[in-house]
Amino acid sequence: MIVDERYKLNNGQRIPKVALGTWQVSDDEAEAVVESSIAAGYRHIDTAIAYGNEAGVGRGIRAAMETQGLHRESIFVTSKIPAEVKTHDGTVACIQESMERLDCFHTDMMLIHAPKPWDEMWKPGHNYFAENLEVWKALEEAYAAGKFRAIGVSNFDVDDLKNIMDECTVMPAVNQVRVHIGHIPYELIEFCEQNGILVEAYSPNAHGNLANVPAICSMAAKYDVSVPQLASRFILQLGLLPLPKSTHEERILQNADLDFEILPADMAELLEIDGL
Ligand SMILES: NC(=O)c1ccc[n+]([C@@H]2O[C@H](COP(=O)([O-])OP(=O)(O)OC[C@H]3O[C@@H](n4cnc5c(N)ncnc54)[C@H](OP(=O)(O)O)[C@@H]3O)[C@@H](O)[C@H]2O)c1
Repeated sequence: MIVDERYKLNNGQRIPKVALGTWQVSDDEAEAVVESSIAAGYRHIDTAIAYGNEAGVGRGIRAAMETQGLHRESIFVTSKIPAEVKTHDGTVACIQESMERLDCFHTDMMLIHAPKPWDEMWKPGHNYFAENLEVWKALEEAYAAGKFRAIGVSNFDVDDLKNIMDECTVMPAVNQVRVHIGHIPYELIEFCEQNGILVEAYSPNAHGNLANVPAICSMAAKYDVSVPQLASRFILQLGLLPLPKSTHEERILQNADLDFEILPADMAELLEIDGL
């Protein structure tokens, strides 16, 4: 199954090609959602301190290990330092608290959630370059101490990445950004690929909105799959890592069924869709 296949990161670590997204999954829901996703074959769970569900995610992973006899090493968990935390010491405290909440032996990957605090994110102004270097230094120290298998960033643009790359001792392994049919940041993806940074595609279903586009629905019908299956398969065929989210067991199961191939002519048609 594709959910159990892995990409190789720039530090040699292997990361499962599909992750279960958990944004807007409550802490109470997270345990069952995570446990059933692992039962469905997912081996990669994406959470964040800001999602407020790390404890539930950790409970779900421990429950899955127990009921399915899995080793912790077979599951990959990603969390994220909040966008508002921009100091070294604040990051050190976040790492400690996050690992305590997850309470599942270790966190596999920690990302900087965004280069700027959310309320400044899409506005010009202060770029937080110096502050992001402080946060990155704290992540590098934790990585060197063996707390993470990889460290990376999210929502970083080319300039934000260059700022880190010019000073770092550990290259970001991933950049998690919004990519879906109708929204493909080509330049950023190309820059990441040229520099060995894996692009993780968040909101692969455009938060559910792809299902409102007739051309995408008819393409999914042609392959006898759902729109979310087509959407994740599209991301995989771009060489990226999709993070589909669902809280429904039957959808979680369906979204893991990605062993089909979108033909080149149909990929080209999907790549023509713009502006979503
Ligand atoms: N780094 C960042 O800044 C950032 C930002 C956004 C997202 N993310 C990550 O990316 C993940 C995914 O993004 P997203 O939460 O925006 O979600 P998404 O995967 O683009 O869309 C989720 C929506 O699609 C629905 N859905 C999923 N599978 C379905 C199916 N098989 N049939 C019908 N409907 C289906 C879900 O409904 P139900 O849940 O009701 O099934 C939900 O409404 C997040 O959970 C998070 O882990 C990261």
